[in-house]
Amino acid sequence: MFMNLAHRGASEYAPENTLAAFYKGLEQGANGIETDLKQSKDGVIILFHDNELDRTTDGHGLPSSYTWKELQELDAGSWFSPAYAGERLVSFEQFLHYFGRKKALFALELKDPNIEQPVLELIRKYDVQHQSTITSFRYENLQAARAVDPSIRLGHLIRKIDEEAIARLKEIGAVQICPCADGLEQEDVRLAKAHGFEVRAWGAFTPELMNHALQCGVDGMTINFPDQLTAAISSA
Ligand code: G3P
Ligand code: CA
Repeated sequence: MFMNLAHRGASEYAPENTLAAFYKGLEQGANGIETDLKQSKDGVIILFHDNELDRTTDGHGLPSSYTWKELQELDAGSWFSPAYAGERLVSFEQFLHYFGRKKALFALELKDPNIEQPVLELIRKYDVQHQSTITSFRYENLQAARAVDPSIRLGHLIRKIDEEAIARLKEIGAVQICPCADGLEQEDVRLAKAHGFEVRAWGAFTPELMNHALQCGVDGMTINFPDQLTAAISSA
């Protein structure tokens, strides 16, 4: 099945990495959710993309400077639209509570170092190993995740597919390779598939890039507007 992964939720239509955006992604036909994992000051795994709180909340500075209790007081929706005023940050455990039984796929991007152990503990606690793929731009995060769990699905976010990237992924038993949609070529996708990898694109920020990735033959992509990807797949 093609992986239509709502990127930080349906982030074109609702504030990224909030429950509203995740629900909207699934409503729009996404069969999975991509989100970003970081850690609060008191060790709670939270869903947050940026280095600092300022762009997408009414807070300031690093999320890791605040406890989860403090982070929960922030407004994570007003920056996007007054209609989403009061939308809150989400912990990974809350996310698993609400979405773990939905059978959606989860692309879980590690954005902080040294969070593999608590992330994998929660994945086991909610029994979502088979629907989850741990991803990162940082190879070290993936190596650490593999050391914690010998069977968890791993995917590496890279700019461009090449033989070296493939060899490094084989070393850690990754199943998924995640190139940027911009600059992707059919040959890259063929090469990765010939080595047995799923190919899931990131960075399809426009309908043109989404269609380009589809034409290259990817197995899935993260997308800010899952409704348009749903329509494109169903008309193909
Ligand atoms: O799908 C991966 C993509 O989310 C990586 O980029 O910056 O959105 O985390 P970023
Ligand atoms: Ca991400």
